[in-house]
Amino acid sequence: MNHLLTGDELGRDEVLWILDRAEAFKREPLGSDLLARRSVALIFQKPSTRTRVSFESGIVEMGGHPMVIRPDDLQLQRGESLRDTARVLGRHVAAVGVRTHDDGELRRLAAEDQLPVFNMLTQGHHPCQALADLLTLREAFGELDGLKLTYVGDGNNVARSLVVLGSKVGVEVVVSSPPGYQLDGATTVEDPREAVAGAQAVYTDVWVSMGDVDTEKRRQVLAGYAIDDELLAAAAPGAIALHCLPAHPGEEISESVLYGERQRIWDQAENRRHAQKAMLECLLGA
Ligand code: CP
Repeated sequence: MNHLLTGDELGRDEVLWILDRAEAFKREPLGSDLLARRSVALIFQKPSTRTRVSFESGIVEMGGHPMVIRPDDLQLQRGESLRDTARVLGRHVAAVGVRTHDDGELRRLAAEDQLPVFNMLTQGHHPCQALADLLTLREAFGELDGLKLTYVGDGNNVARSLVVLGSKVGVEVVVSSPPGYQLDGATTVEDPREAVAGAQAVYTDVWVSMGDVDTEKRRQVLAGYAIDDELLAAAAPGAIALHCLPAHPGEEISESVLYGERQRIWDQAENRRHAQKAMLECLLGA
């Protein structure tokens, strides 16, 4: 893997290798000094809690320096090209992570081939989240092959990354969304009760993501696409609830599920760090 832009760069063996290494990192957080005396640039053009905290702490655990950069800090704001920015980054840091709106921007940065580039969330994809989600699923069920995960709600970047990466390791991902919010190319079942039948995991995300402007319309159209105890009861016995966070209890997830016995949501948030450390090893050729 030279870059992680969508997750499609990874084959089945690489995904499973990342998950194995992530489990090892969870047991032994200081198990690698791959980044000793090296820096990793983290460019955040959008707000973040989990991604920023997990990458910063994970890079430090690997001996490295997380160089957090806000867009206002860069000469990009004053018209310096992405091409020149990539050339300079490549002379100083081991890799660069980017959180931005535009997938094309990430692709153009990677195409300069000056340093490994990884996606910390774009409009289209969130592969680091999906790697942590697969780790959480494997912890819960022991293996991934043959599991069914139903994503309920807005067919967004998180849903797409679950489809892309789940398909690599035998997880069937079904997406349940209303017309207008469905994910192209995904197996879609409009009725959430029908969609969760037989699912070992039921997943949701906020109805209004960063950059969405049709807030009230989304709340109305997506109102039936929430995870609550009743929907979870319609899934397979022992099904777990997942959410990439931040959550809006009372909207896309009930408070009783968010803090209840069947959620693995807070493990998911922790697993971001372990999975991303393993991803960095894969990216940098440990
Ligand atoms: N799930 C996720 O990416 O969280 P943040 O937006 O807080 O980083």
